[in-house]
Amino acid sequence: MLLITGTSGGLGSLIARRLADRPDVRFATRAPDGPGHVRVDFDDPDSLDFTGVDTLLLISAGYGEDDQVIARHEAAVAAAERDGVRHIVYTSLTGAGDHLPYALAHRWTERRLRGSAAAWTVLRNGLYAELLAALAAPGPDGVITAPLGGGRLAAVAREDLAEVAVRVALAPDAHAGQVYELVGDRPLGGAELAAAVGARYAPGSLAQARSALSGPDAAPFQPPMLVATYSAIASGFLDTPDDGTLPRLLGRPPRPALEVYTGTATPSGPADPGPADPSPARGYLPAVAGGV
Ligand SMILES: NC(=O)c1ccc[n+]([C@@H]2O[C@H](COP(=O)([O-])OP(=O)(O)OC[C@H]3O[C@@H](n4cnc5c(N)ncnc54)[C@H](OP(=O)(O)O)[C@@H]3O)[C@@H](O)[C@H]2O)c1
Repeated sequence: MLLITGTSGGLGSLIARRLADRPDVRFATRAPDGPGHVRVDFDDPDSLDFTGVDTLLLISAGYGEDDQVIARHEAAVAAAERDGVRHIVYTSLTGAGDHLPYALAHRWTERRLRGSAAAWTVLRNGLYAELLAALAAPGPDGVITAPLGGGRLAAVAREDLAEVAVRVALAPDAHAGQVYELVGDRPLGGAELAAAVGARYAPGSLAQARSALSGPDAAPFQPPMLVATYSAIASGFLDTPDDGTLPRLLGRPPRPALEVYTGTATPSGPADPGPADPSPARGYLPAVAGGV
């Protein structure tokens, strides 16, 4: 049996959709509501029963301070080991993201898996094109003010990451001990994004972004997380394109990230504050009036 965690989320729901008809798959969320759905909450030890599970697709629960995220992932891996799970597939963060504060918990989890008795595969996901669409949407005045400077992001369609995760999780033996870097093949910068949606690019500063993000709806960890993401893009740390791994695992060329951006990013305005994608990566983004 394959069990997938986080299946109500943006990535997990795409994975679950692909596997909906399979009787040998269980879909775990904190609030299960259908056949084949089971409750798994990493913060609740009583919910961590992986009896009968051969492969665990562990979708990171990366929202929170490091100690909280690490405790969640430790609880999941320890329960999987205890219950005899043979293979753990983990959704991590691209190596190019090592400058990001949230990389630490991912690297901790990768190290934990390397020391595990279970077999493992690490999917080092790049930043989603959907996340870029939320972070760099034009404002109601048609201006993109996201502080990307002259930097570019090798964003990747979340749909492609879901497809790779499915392929690996259904045939894990072929991927045991592998760390896959899964980023987009064409890095995108602010000027190109603006041209694609008929907007103007006038990047603001990181300080302006921090201030815009630090509203009452923001959890304390969110502004530093997002500002660091802008900073890493602007500084050119996230523009390394795919080395051929993604198309090899997909068996086809990746979806163009620019198309995902243009299909997702719409002007945000006072009547409709916040990101255009209802689930670009919910935990990363506080509701930000007027965008960043
Ligand atoms: N590469 C990127 O651009 C990027 C961007 C944002 C986030 N991420 C990371 O990738 C993960 C998946 O991305 P996403 O787009 O699917 O994010 P998402 O839509 O925000 O979903 C987050 C998922 O985390 C799960 N989760 C949170 N706390 C949990 C807990 N205590 N126990 C079990 N599950 C918990 C949620 O599970 P439920 O189904 O139970 O609600 C939810 O499905 C995120 O959690 C984050 O770590 C990556």
